[in-house]
Amino acid sequence: MAAVRALLLLAFLPLLLLLQPAAEASSEAQHLIDARASIIDPTGALAGWGAGAATADRASPCRWARVSCAANTSTAPAVVGLQLSRLALAGRFPASLCALRSLERLDLSLNDLVGPLPACLAALPALTHLNLAGNNFSGEVPRSWGARFRSLAALNLVQNLLTGEFPEFLADISGLQELQLAYNLFAPSPFPEKLVGLAGLRVLFMANCSLNGTIPSSIGKLQNLVNLDLSSNNLSGEIPPSIGNLSSLEQIELFSNQLSGGIPVGLGGLKNLRSLDFSMNRLTGEIPEDLFLAPRLDSVHMYQNNLSGPLPATLATAPSLSDLRIFQNQLSGPLPPEFGKNCPLNFLDTSDNRLSGPIPATLCASGKLEQLMLLDNQYEGAIPVELGQCRTLMRVRLQSNRLSGVVPPEFWGLPSVYLLELRDNALSGTVDPSIGGAKNMSKMLLQGNKFTGALPAELGNLYSLQEFKASNNGFSGSLPQSIANLSLLYNLDLSNNSLSGEIPRDFGKLKKLSQLDLSSNHLTGIIPPELGEINEMNMLDLSNNELSGQVPAQLQNLRLTHFNISYNKLSGVLPAFFSGLQYRDSFLGNPGLCAGFCQSNGNSYAKHRTMIKSVVSILIASAIILFVGITWFGYKCRMYKMSAAESDDGKSSWVLTSFHRVDFTERDIVNSLDENNVIGQGGAGKVYKVVVGPQGEAMAVKKLWPSGVASKRIDTFEAEVATLSKVRHKNIVKLACSITNRVCRLLVYEYMPNGSLGDMLHSAKGKILDWPMRYKIAVNAAEGLSYLHHDCQPPIIHRDVKSNNILLDAEYGAKVADFGVAKTIGEGPATMSIIAGSCGYIAPGELVLPKYAYTLHVTEKSDIYSFGVVILELVTGKKPMALEIGEMDLVTWVSTTIEQSGMESVLDQTLAEDFKDDMCKVLKIAMLCVCNLPINRPPMRSVVKMLLEVKADSKQKVKAAPPAI
Ligand SMILES: *[C@@H]1O[C@H](CO)[C@@H](O)[C@H](O)[C@H]1NC(C)=O
Ligand SMILES: *[C@@H]1O[C@H](CO)[C@@H](O)[C@H](O)[C@H]1NC(C)=O
Ligand SMILES: *[C@@H]1O[C@H](CO)[C@@H](O)[C@H](O)[C@H]1NC(C)=O
Ligand SMILES: *[C@@H]1O[C@H](CO)[C@@H](O)[C@H](O)[C@H]1NC(C)=O
Repeated sequence: MAAVRALLLLAFLPLLLLLQPAAEASSEAQHLIDARASIIDPTGALAGWGAGAATADRASPCRWARVSCAANTSTAPAVVGLQLSRLALAGRFPASLCALRSLERLDLSLNDLVGPLPACLAALPALTHLNLAGNNFSGEVPRSWGARFRSLAALNLVQNLLTGEFPEFLADISGLQELQLAYNLFAPSPFPEKLVGLAGLRVLFMANCSLNGTIPSSIGKLQNLVNLDLSSNNLSGEIPPSIGNLSSLEQIELFSNQLSGGIPVGLGGLKNLRSLDFSMNRLTGEIPEDLFLAPRLDSVHMYQNNLSGPLPATLATAPSLSDLRIFQNQLSGPLPPEFGKNCPLNFLDTSDNRLSGPIPATLCASGKLEQLMLLDNQYEGAIPVELGQCRTLMRVRLQSNRLSGVVPPEFWGLPSVYLLELRDNALSGTVDPSIGGAKNMSKMLLQGNKFTGALPAELGNLYSLQEFKASNNGFSGSLPQSIANLSLLYNLDLSNNSLSGEIPRDFGKLKKLSQLDLSSNHLTGIIPPELGEINEMNMLDLSNNELSGQVPAQLQNLRLTHFNISYNKLSGVLPAFFSGLQYRDSFLGNPGLCAGFCQSNGNSYAKHRTMIKSVVSILIASAIILFVGITWFGYKCRMYKMSAAESDDGKSSWVLTSFHRVDFTERDIVNSLDENNVIGQGGAGKVYKVVVGPQGEAMAVKKLWPSGVASKRIDTFEAEVATLSKVRHKNIVKLACSITNRVCRLLVYEYMPNGSLGDMLHSAKGKILDWPMRYKIAVNAAEGLSYLHHDCQPPIIHRDVKSNNILLDAEYGAKVADFGVAKTIGEGPATMSIIAGSCGYIAPGELVLPKYAYTLHVTEKSDIYSFGVVILELVTGKKPMALEIGEMDLVTWVSTTIEQSGMESVLDQTLAEDFKDDMCKVLKIAMLCVCNLPINRPPMRSVVKMLLEVKADSKQKVKAAPPAI
């Protein structure tokens, strides 16, 4: 028996020996397969690991993607590296990786991993490089990492959700060369001075780590430091001069702190320094003379400080400087005469200082200058002829200086310039015909200078031009016909010049034009009827010219918020459309023009007044009739409902039209209407809560006031049904069906258990809504409106956006409701004249009659204004028209209070403590929405984007871009 066993063993022995190395390899393989199994791999990047691999490769992880092994022939190959960056891997850290004993480099950066950092990694004896940046790891850095991580040379934990005390104990990893902890959520702490003991440290990245206190002078001990980034902390005190000892330093980022005092002398000795950013601090004093002696210094950012005094002369000899941003300081004196001659200058921004003297002729001597921002200083003299050769220039902003003289002819035609801003100087000469070469020009702002001569026909070659303003100059001659080729032009302002001749009829081809200001010139001829074809036109000012003929009826097609053709020589009968009050000042000073009926000597203004009076009294009378009628019909309707419910044959008279699947009948609804269940009452009818269907589902039923009496104009039923049945969006209240009979009309909606935002916010329940909830509501409502404006065909204007029309579901998600007055854009302007809007939500200038806005010019921009008011309610917690804020509406109160005491003073004080920054950001968006000039209000799509960015900003991956001026 034993012999048989021995024989068997002998027979299998070679096989067992053969299996031995393979089994070892496969244990590493198994760890990887286990790791793969424990995480989510949505893109299948690791599908080739294990079973998926070709048979020959199955047991050999060294052939698997993203796995590297050491070439070691004495034992089985061992996994030494895993490169698993940017694979959208999710789930927790795969603990089986801690079993890969030979692992040297592990990169799991930029995935979606969550949960705690794995303490077990510290037990890996060979791990030198660990990169877990850009995930959602949370909790504290394991304390054991400090004591046990002997081998580690590079640790990167940037951009996770790590909390707890700053892990100063990492300073115990004595061999550390790279320590990157930026953008986590550590508790405030002073600069961890223990780190200066890490003699080998080359990279120290601790931006946005809540560090406070001062930067210790001992930082000068880090002799090997190449990269030092302490930006976006709360560091205060002075920059220690000892950083001048860090002789290996290439990059130093200290922006966005509260550093004060002067810039230390001695940085010029740093032979390897390339980039330095001290922006957004409170630094004072002069820029030290020696700084620009640093031979490799390429980028210097010191904007938004309190630096003063002259610029050092050494600036002109800095050999490598390409990017200098020193805007918003109090620097004075001239730019050094030969600045740019010795360095590859590419980006220069000295805006908003007190710099004076001429613009150096040498700025573009190396042929690299792209961005030249010198605005808001006291520079004088002419634009140097040499800049006319600077074909690399892209962005040129020289406004608000004291520049004079003739602009060099070639300067106009630079091929890459897309922004040319010369306004508010004393520049003279003509716009040279070479302008035709400026093919990239998108914005050209020349207003407030002394330019003369005719506008060249070559302007018509600037196909990218969107904005051209040249008001308050001395331009003469006629308007070039070629301007009509500028198909992207949306703003043309040539007011206050001496232009003559006719307005070219071809201007009607400027389909994007929304603002046209040709006022205060000497234009003659007629107003081209073709202007009425420019659908985008929002502002049209032709006042103070010598235009004659009739006011073209075609202009009625435009939705104008500003319309002025006063002080011309117009004559004839004014189209009836323009008799509205908002046009009261549009036609002054045209003696030949008469409204309605012509009387040669009639005082047209007095006539206008009597007309207004009669319109108002008619409106009041109809309001009274309406009220009486509504009451009567309400009564009739109730009687009818009762009789219908009582009599059995009433069933047939109700018609149910469903837009979504419903599991109730019209009878269920009609029979459930009970005056005890009224949950709201509005201008259009009563709202009931009913519970119907087999599931006992709650629905909201809106019973509209009966039609016959209510004027056809506010017959909201068809409007609402037509609109709502078309829209489908998660942030729009769902209309399940409509139910009608001869007298009564019911709309059945999904029930929103938390009622309206207005009720919630402005009642005792307001406290329930913390800031994250309010933010979510703002985003939801914005998405709903954005859908109406941008994704419906034709677009839909809500026309009555207010907090009472934003409803909240069980999770406090918001949906936009009440389309009683919604209109699709694109119907004729005459149908736009129905009562719309609610007090406190209507943009100034659109408000005509008190209480209701009776306006012809409700555009999507009006919705945006109203939405801005809703955001203001969320941010301030105040009502749009509240007694405690006096006579003012919310917008006025917010703007005046911000002006007097700053943004934070208007925030809802019950929330401001924890969410101040985000609330201020949202407040800024609201202020854009309530801009006076409709054109300046951002489209809803951008509002959504900006709102979402508020959250994204709170967790920013990269250094903030400098604010562009
Ligand atoms: C190969 O493996 C042996 C045994 O584990 C080890 O002693 C040796 O250092 C390794 N060689 C290399 C090049 O990794
Ligand atoms: C990571 O955290 C951010 C911010 O807290 C969050 O928005 C994001 O959804 C999280 N991602 C994952 C995958 O958990
Ligand atoms: C740093 O922050 C901590 C915690 O908030 C605080 O106790 C300490 O006083 C701060 N130190 C300085 C210098 O501001
Ligand atoms: C630091 O990050 C927090 C969120 O993590 C953010 O709110 C804050 O604005 C950032 N600070 C700076 C100065 O960027």
